[in-house]
Amino acid sequence: MENVTFHDHKPDTLSLYDAVVQGLSKRQKSIPPKFFYDKRGSELFDQICQQPEYYLPTVERRMLEQNAAEIAELAGRGRVLIEPGAGSASKVRLLLDALQPSAFVPMDISFEYLKSSATVLAEEYPWLSIRAACVDYTHSLPVPENVPQGSRLLFFPGSSLGNFNKQEACEFLRLVHNTLGRGGMLLIGIDTKKNHGLLNAAYNDAAGLTAEFNLNLLHRVQNELHADLDPNNFSHSAFYNNQAGRIEMHLISKLKHTLRIDGHAFDFEEGEYLHTENSYKYSPDEFISMAALNGFQSRRYWVDDQGMFAIYLLQSE
Ligand SMILES: C[S@@+](CC[C@H](N)C(=O)[O-])C[C@H]1O[C@@H](n2cnc3c(N)ncnc32)[C@H](O)[C@@H]1O
Repeated sequence: MENVTFHDHKPDTLSLYDAVVQGLSKRQKSIPPKFFYDKRGSELFDQICQQPEYYLPTVERRMLEQNAAEIAELAGRGRVLIEPGAGSASKVRLLLDALQPSAFVPMDISFEYLKSSATVLAEEYPWLSIRAACVDYTHSLPVPENVPQGSRLLFFPGSSLGNFNKQEACEFLRLVHNTLGRGGMLLIGIDTKKNHGLLNAAYNDAAGLTAEFNLNLLHRVQNELHADLDPNNFSHSAFYNNQAGRIEMHLISKLKHTLRIDGHAFDFEEGEYLHTENSYKYSPDEFISMAALNGFQSRRYWVDDQGMFAIYLLQSE
């Protein structure tokens, strides 16, 4: 394909090995959520997005479809469109015709998956220049050199900002601000605070896919680090922590046992939690104030009629 190029910008951030050894050495054991996404993890996430309980992508897609023309009107056409964590790049398809970007830069940590999704996109959109970059967005947002000059629009759907704690979210917004420069725009989808039953159901789908996704982390540790561990010794747990305003996802040890990796031994008590992900929820006021503190002015935001999800268009000042 002539309209797509690939760029490996993945920095020397913590490897899976280092992250697991560090995370399991802590009193509250944890592994960062970015390690969910090997090829299997990305595929499982796509399947989660089709589950009826996981309302986020359905509502967000409908809102993007309904508002694409107004978004393009406000943002203007012909910007360089950047999407960190693009995955299958399915949501951006709802905007491409309206936005007519001068180039699209999908970024993802899962390079093989990104390559295949960018190749499919390039076939579907022969007029679009695609510059796909393997990037860890918790570290930096390097834009490939062969991207045209001109104003930028960064698209960050899927409530991925919610995976950061409040301080990390501010740091990410600063990083986006630097990547965009003055006058750049940010289009971001974020889950709202709502009925706890709906939130708990969303992360505990009846088909068990979120559980499989969570446990896939241990399959990665087992396969890639040759760890002596049995994923069946753990079960999935996800619940809304009202005080913190977030869904917490954990793997719970079903029994007292020891997990071994390369000379390291990590003891688990029965019922002990291994923390794998947070998903913070924001009211529009909370998010708009946080964005303002980090250099963004809200231009317009949309909330669906049931208050399930919000999309914000902000300008970098
Ligand atoms: C929850 S999915 C969202 C996909 C898509 N943006 C959407 O809204 O449907 C998260 C995507 O971000 C990628 N990802 C997760 N952590 C990342 C990181 N630190 N840097 C770059 N990509 C990351 C994953 O590989 C995955 O494709």
